[in-house]
Amino acid sequence: MTAESAPPVYRFARRTEGAGDGVSAILALAEPGETITFSGGFPAPETFPTKVLGGLLGEAVGPAAPVALQYTATEGLASLRSTLRSWISAGQGAKPADDELMVTSGGIEALSLLARCLVDPGDRVLTESPTYLGAITAFTGLEGRVEGVATDHEGLDPVALEEAILAGALPKLLYVIPDFQNPTGRWWTAERRRAVVEVCRRHGVPVAEDVAYRELAFSPEERPSLWALAPELVVQVGTFSKIFFPGVRLGWAAGVPALIGAMVAAKQNSDQCAGGLGQWLVERYLGGDHLEPHLQVARALYAERAAALQEALARHLPEGCTWTRPAGGFFSWVSAPGGVDTVALVPEAQRRGVAYVPGAPFFPGRAEARHLRLSYSRTNPEQIDEGIRRLGCLLSDAIEEAR
Ligand SMILES: Cc1ncc(COP(=O)(O)O)c(C=O)c1O
Repeated sequence: MTAESAPPVYRFARRTEGAGDGVSAILALAEPGETITFSGGFPAPETFPTKVLGGLLGEAVGPAAPVALQYTATEGLASLRSTLRSWISAGQGAKPADDELMVTSGGIEALSLLARCLVDPGDRVLTESPTYLGAITAFTGLEGRVEGVATDHEGLDPVALEEAILAGALPKLLYVIPDFQNPTGRWWTAERRRAVVEVCRRHGVPVAEDVAYRELAFSPEERPSLWALAPELVVQVGTFSKIFFPGVRLGWAAGVPALIGAMVAAKQNSDQCAGGLGQWLVERYLGGDHLEPHLQVARALYAERAAALQEALARHLPEGCTWTRPAGGFFSWVSAPGGVDTVALVPEAQRRGVAYVPGAPFFPGRAEARHLRLSYSRTNPEQIDEGIRRLGCLLSDAIEEAR
């Protein structure tokens, strides 16, 4: 072969190293079969509003086609943004202005736009530890340095946060999930929310608040959104994946006009606009008052599954294991005694017909191997009991071996 006809050698950019490994592994575990799966933060398919959608889709390919099948403005359909602003205002007690809200292609795109607008190589980004894997990779993908801050059962520790802020160059951002967090299922008390906002305000550190699970509370406690507490400091990132259906790939970001403007400009360099069909569907679903009754059914379903999981964990997990008790959302976080490595146990778990997500990839810094994440959202109570029985046997054997 001559030099002229040699095959191309791709010299990948440094930022591609390791990108996507963790997420692909989770999605690979997501195919249901004989295995009882607690992997993937997938909504229950039985919550998908197929009846209403059927009617709306008929309209979308009929009289609404000129709008529903067309490109939209980069910041989103004006009618959807107006409906979304009213919905946010009704739920959170504060209304973003027209130039403070944009529509995105899912929550993950909002995070990657945020990273593109704020993070230069080497910049510090603080997060809870553990935190959502997709956010870690959005920030590290742009060569940001993601550092974890300690949390306890009330939320992010404001004292640890202040120490972390002062431990190096001023962080570009604090990224948090105050409601039914991925991966722990924990939520923050109202006092913690105020305390964290206060610390960030004092030091001038902007906050990204991810509200992916906020609407899936099992009980109506006071949970002020960080954005409503400090709209000048906080950018809120939301998604319709967990409360409508993920196939629609729609989310939003609400923040000060300068930041939203920069994110809209960055979006012009990616997909230019979120899919018009999905935007039109969300607008009609929200505007037609279908979402709230839908959410009531979904919350009841997930609450039932969360309760079944708690019962099964208490019945089947060996002594020495602990777990969180979620009050909303999809997840519970299980901690085994030291010496158990949940990554190493994955192949044996698969042999025994149970799938979970190992906890290690959710840690931004030094990973702890003894944790795992369980998602109960698309597993029914009978499967939950049997799946946790299998997991209990697996962990018993692993604990015995680690002794
Ligand atoms: C906390 C959190 N934020 C954002 C997302 C991404 O949502 P989307 O599917 O809309 O991109 C997820 C999905 O798992 C999530 O758990």
